[in-house]
Amino acid sequence: PNVQALATSLNKSSLVPEKYVRPEAKVEPVASIDDIELPVIYLAKLIDPEFSNEEASKLHLACQEWGFFQLVSHGVPEELMEELKVDIAEFFRKPLEEKMAYKQDNDGTIQGYGQAFVLSEEQKLDWSDMLYIMTRPVALRNMKYWPTSPSTFRDNIDRFSLELTKLASCLCNYIAKNLGVAPEVFAQLFNDHPQAIRCNYYPPCLEPDKVVGHSPHSDATGFTFVLHVNDVQGLQIRKDGEWITVSALPNAFVVNLGDITEILSNGIYKSVEHRVMINTENARISLAAFHSPDNSIMLRPLPEVIGDGKPNYGSISYREFMKAYFDKQLEGKSVVDMLKL
Ligand code: SIN
Ligand code: FE2
Repeated sequence: PNVQALATSLNKSSLVPEKYVRPEAKVEPVASIDDIELPVIYLAKLIDPEFSNEEASKLHLACQEWGFFQLVSHGVPEELMEELKVDIAEFFRKPLEEKMAYKQDNDGTIQGYGQAFVLSEEQKLDWSDMLYIMTRPVALRNMKYWPTSPSTFRDNIDRFSLELTKLASCLCNYIAKNLGVAPEVFAQLFNDHPQAIRCNYYPPCLEPDKVVGHSPHSDATGFTFVLHVNDVQGLQIRKDGEWITVSALPNAFVVNLGDITEILSNGIYKSVEHRVMINTENARISLAAFHSPDNSIMLRPLPEVIGDGKPNYGSISYREFMKAYFDKQLEGKSVVDMLKL
């Protein structure tokens, strides 16, 4: 069911349907400190010879200790970001029938408007809707899922996706260097930079303690960029066993390293579990851009990283890894944990 429509139809006297009630989510400890700011990385400094080494060390530390950071002074034009944010918010404001023109097909692929990781009648559901589109390589686009209204949506997503690809490729170089891997080796693994964009809509809920916007998971990506489209927070990450709420600076990209990077780095960098929680007042809108490796690669810790040590993960083809990831409900880090030696 469409969650935005469901949320609108509920009033004070009607309760959240059982399918969305997630008592287990509240059992785990949530840190008492509110709104922790993630490490901030300045791209302008990373690329400036005078500050590069210092900023690269900060990046390395953020990757090791957090698996998450905010990327600022990233050079993506402000006017493009503002226009795209307006477009995405406007898309979700459209009447349900209009949005349903882009609905997912029942063919097991994830693209389109709907929900992800719904595999059985019995499972609990997330309090959110999404629009998921493949953006790169361009040949993989299926334009039937790309909204034509607002009229600027397609063009802005296209421009934004190119900007993010450049950013991803630049970041790859610094991550490679920090791991002691030749940038060409990384560039080869991330050949063509497959990219998908997911726009998320998390409606408010009068009983926010009963629902979860996005189940706990780690991303099956190289890395992910998250943009807070309407500056409503709600992202929590699991740090040292506790869930902490993180807040993002306006127009920063919240970057998180995915399972692929954890495996390639032999666990030096962690793909950190995260989830999204709901509030009573405001809908939260976010955009996640997933950056994946070339789908023909074998996933294994890189020999340059292992050095004289031992691999901490077994090897698996990227395709098999993705199949295992999508064959089950979103749940913590179970796929990557299965590969641990
Ligand atoms: C996610 O893709 O993990 C959700 C990101 C978000 O909405 O903040
Ligand atoms: Fe995620």
